[in-house]
Amino acid sequence: MHIETNIVHGGQHPDKLHGAVSPPIYQTSTFAFRDADHGARLFMGKEEGYIYTRLSNPTIDLLANKIALLESTEAGLIFSSGLAAIFNVVVTLVKSGEHVISDNTIYGGTFALFKNILPRLGIEVTFIDTTDIDQLTSSIKKNTRLVFTETPANPTLKIIDIAKCAEVVHKNNLPLCVDNTFATPYLQRPAEFGSDIVVHSATKYLGGHGDIIGGVVVGKKEFIKNLWEDAKEIGASNSPFNAWLILRGLKTLAVRVEKHCANAMEIAKYLSKHNKVERVYYPGLPSHPGHEIAKKQMSHFGGMLAFDVKGGKEAGKVIMNSVKLCILAVSLGDVDTLIEHPASMTHSTYSDEELRECGIAPGFIRISVGLENAKDLIKDLEQALSKI
Ligand SMILES: Cc1ncc(COP(=O)(O)O)c(C=O)c1O
Repeated sequence: MHIETNIVHGGQHPDKLHGAVSPPIYQTSTFAFRDADHGARLFMGKEEGYIYTRLSNPTIDLLANKIALLESTEAGLIFSSGLAAIFNVVVTLVKSGEHVISDNTIYGGTFALFKNILPRLGIEVTFIDTTDIDQLTSSIKKNTRLVFTETPANPTLKIIDIAKCAEVVHKNNLPLCVDNTFATPYLQRPAEFGSDIVVHSATKYLGGHGDIIGGVVVGKKEFIKNLWEDAKEIGASNSPFNAWLILRGLKTLAVRVEKHCANAMEIAKYLSKHNKVERVYYPGLPSHPGHEIAKKQMSHFGGMLAFDVKGGKEAGKVIMNSVKLCILAVSLGDVDTLIEHPASMTHSTYSDEELRECGIAPGFIRISVGLENAKDLIKDLEQALSKI
């Protein structure tokens, strides 16, 4: 099946009991056992079935299996948030005294988790630029257990060559984990390029409507089983209702992402010709350094873009305080267009030097382009830029 068909039907069938086309929400904490032996067999893993929603739940399983299918992987697990998903991946693969390599341009919350919390657990993290394959090769140590990257990266839209990274990582018998939040499986399936683990903040495009928080990990069956063994004791599970909202949002992923991409391309072209804009970051522009790689591994270029405004931080503030249609808010992948200043918001966990190292200038503004008419968004940006 084509991905659009799997987005609608994949893993889902009318409910066996009543034929409901929309899946039932199993809004329950616990599941009754037939008798004491049945309960004991479920706990021993001698029989399959549901015990307690922190461990598993039919609505949540439906979502996990569907995203695994869309990502061309074997299995998946749902978490309370994208960060919980990433944390659980690390904890399952890496222990005290071991080492993680991460790209230095990643979501600010993930950066803080890696920079501040993992070292407290005795896990060392080296931040590098994973577009530099020599740097990646030379950063791998005897105790390295995981390589983590994001593409397109938050917030600079840096593009990582997944296949090249995977080649080096696999030569060293290590797993590669790619955060695919910006692209979604509709545009890019990292597993098809060799990524072993794929993570998402489902809060973003997968849910798509800005009304839930959720996270996903997909990968090989054996890894997801190990992940689940730890995750059920860590407890960052999600709710059946949130899983259902993500399932509902997912049904329109293909059409939403098409429109996000078309709008973002129109705005990127508009901004790149504006005399008050220093630079536009959008992988769909041929001037973007990752354009050719993006063409190879993505089917379109996504709904996220960023730009440097002339006049730095103060000029950026004027824009953010002047927009009327774009909403000044963090998060992304919503139907509404959201605008924010990474240096003081999503990436405020970076020091000034760390921001400089990944090319985030003081006047750098990120836009999550929504589903409005692009002409209205451009008009809004035009009036905001005219205030500088
Ligand atoms: C690329 C990326 N990964 C992970 C996360 C974390 O997701 P959540 O907010 O659902 O924990 C975010 C959040 O913005 C993100 O942008």
